Amino acid sequence: MTRHEAVRQAVSVAHQARREISPTSTPQEKADQLETLMLEGHTVQVMPPWLADVTREPPPGLPTGRFLMGDDPRLPAMPDRPALYDFYTCRVALNQTGIQHMLQSAALAQDKGLSDNVVLACILHDISVTNLVRTDHGYWAAQLIEPYVDAEVTEAVRYRQALRYFAEPDYDYDYPAFYREVFGEDYKPAEYLEAARDFARTQPWYDTAMQVVVNDFYAFDANVRIELNRFEGVMKTAFRNPIEGLGFDASASAHMWRTLIWPNNFL
Ligand SMILES: [Fe+2]
Repeated sequence: MTRHEAVRQAVSVAHQARREISPTSTPQEKADQLETLMLEGHTVQVMPPWLADVTREPPPGLPTGRFLMGDDPRLPAMPDRPALYDFYTCRVALNQTGIQHMLQSAALAQDKGLSDNVVLACILHDISVTNLVRTDHGYWAAQLIEPYVDAEVTEAVRYRQALRYFAEPDYDYDYPAFYREVFGEDYKPAEYLEAARDFARTQPWYDTAMQVVVNDFYAFDANVRIELNRFEGVMKTAFRNPIEGLGFDASASAHMWRTLIWPNNFL
């Protein structure tokens, strides 16, 4: 579908919504009706953030008419001062496909004898896709981890997203066949991604970023299972867990960690 066709489709859904959604419906009913129309009208698959959409049913025990604030009983309880490892056991592991993808990527890097920073970057590289925001996930993940890791790790996670879109013969890396399949043959990465690739190539951490790209590329095997505890040590040494717990140390990304703890808070 071209961009023009996608816009035309969105406008048509909006018109249809105006005609078909009853003004007497409750806000929740209107939201449900609109979502149904949008799904029917789309030929492109849309992926909502999964963690904040545990179920449409309210958490048990919540009085009628109240919105959730605080611990969500549908999610595993987290310790008061959570470390990175706790986020992986209590949140990331809820998405087994996602966590296995990252752990497989880290295991490949470790088996090649690559540094702890490369291994850590592999463990973290898709944490935004699994738990926060899909769009521009490399940038979100980098911002999340920046106060706690070496700059090499932050930039590898940030720029891997852009670097994945471009073949790099020096690393024997081709544009992924998977992208061709899911984005279409005519998909062209946005200009900002190309600019990010050009910038990354000039930086001292470029090799680290490309190691994450290369090991990311091969880390899709449904028959392999890697245990999280293999990386417990790296997650405690290469990642600087704050004594107050992630989310409570007033760092620049503390609010993002709190969002992972309480993803379904009303505000
Ligand atoms: Fe990945």
